[in-house]
Amino acid sequence: MQHVILFDAMLHLDSPTEAARWCSAQRDHGRTIGFVPTMGALHSGHLSLVTRACNENTACCASIFINPLQFEDAEDYDAYPRDTESDLALLKSHGCDMVFMGSLHQFFPEISDINEIKTLSAGPHGSGLEGQFRPGHLDGVTTIVERLFRTVGAARVYFGEKDFQQTLVVSDLARDMGYPEVVVCPTVREDSGLALSSRNVLLSTDEKTRAQRIYPALLAARDAWSSGERDPGRLSAIMMECLSLDGLVVEYAEVRDPGHWISEPQATPLEHAQALIAVRVGSVRLIDNLRLDQ
Ligand code: PAJ
Repeated sequence: MQHVILFDAMLHLDSPTEAARWCSAQRDHGRTIGFVPTMGALHSGHLSLVTRACNENTACCASIFINPLQFEDAEDYDAYPRDTESDLALLKSHGCDMVFMGSLHQFFPEISDINEIKTLSAGPHGSGLEGQFRPGHLDGVTTIVERLFRTVGAARVYFGEKDFQQTLVVSDLARDMGYPEVVVCPTVREDSGLALSSRNVLLSTDEKTRAQRIYPALLAARDAWSSGERDPGRLSAIMMECLSLDGLVVEYAEVRDPGHWISEPQATPLEHAQALIAVRVGSVRLIDNLRLDQ
């Protein structure tokens, strides 16, 4: 039997099947759906997506599912922060009409074992950067997002620019599925410039201070771009210089043309540019990015 909880004005469903039914009923009533997929541990970055989805549609729904397919190791999956009670209260206070969760088995009912799940390919935007340093991660994202899109059906779906490469990959998926519209929302930051992330709660005070070097590195690349620097190698070196700090391990600090994504670092001068950084601070991995040519 399906378990349905009415959380005051917000409906909380714990199965994708029930969620699909709710979404379908919304469309039957002529409502447009704004959908925000998340893994929970919600912060103001997630909530900016929810607010926008509520403002731009007549029905707003969110999903909370920590997708094991996008974690490379069990330890990282286990350490991922979880706070369902707070998530539900925040979604409700931000105007969300329905939130759904579900087990891996409910999302993949045809499979009895996680190892049998055939992951989808993230496609050309999945190569390089995250594709190189987190092999399989964007394939895992694509695989669950395809199920989430199928569950919700026609909707506008909201993603954060904070996960820039993810927005490219899911936009490809949405186009291939004939999905109506992907809305990419700006990155929400702390006053220090540090991008909000569910993983920030795992940082010690010292680690957080180190992590606060990421945004100045992006700004330094943008300043250099504004002064006419177009060489991707030199822009990368400028960011590396800002990030050279004990206890900060840089996985990549690169500048890419988002319209001409290639798996290798770009060698020729750029016309359009997105600076992208991934670092490890202690056991926590953080990513951030900034458009340079705007
Ligand atoms: P999660 O990390 O929970 O993020 C959910 C959404 O919130 C993503 O679109 C992400 O880019 C956005 N987001 C996170 N931090 C943000 C910030 N500081 N400012 C603006 N938006 C921000 O991304 C995922 O979950 C998963 O990969 C998912 C798409 C749900 C698939 O499992």
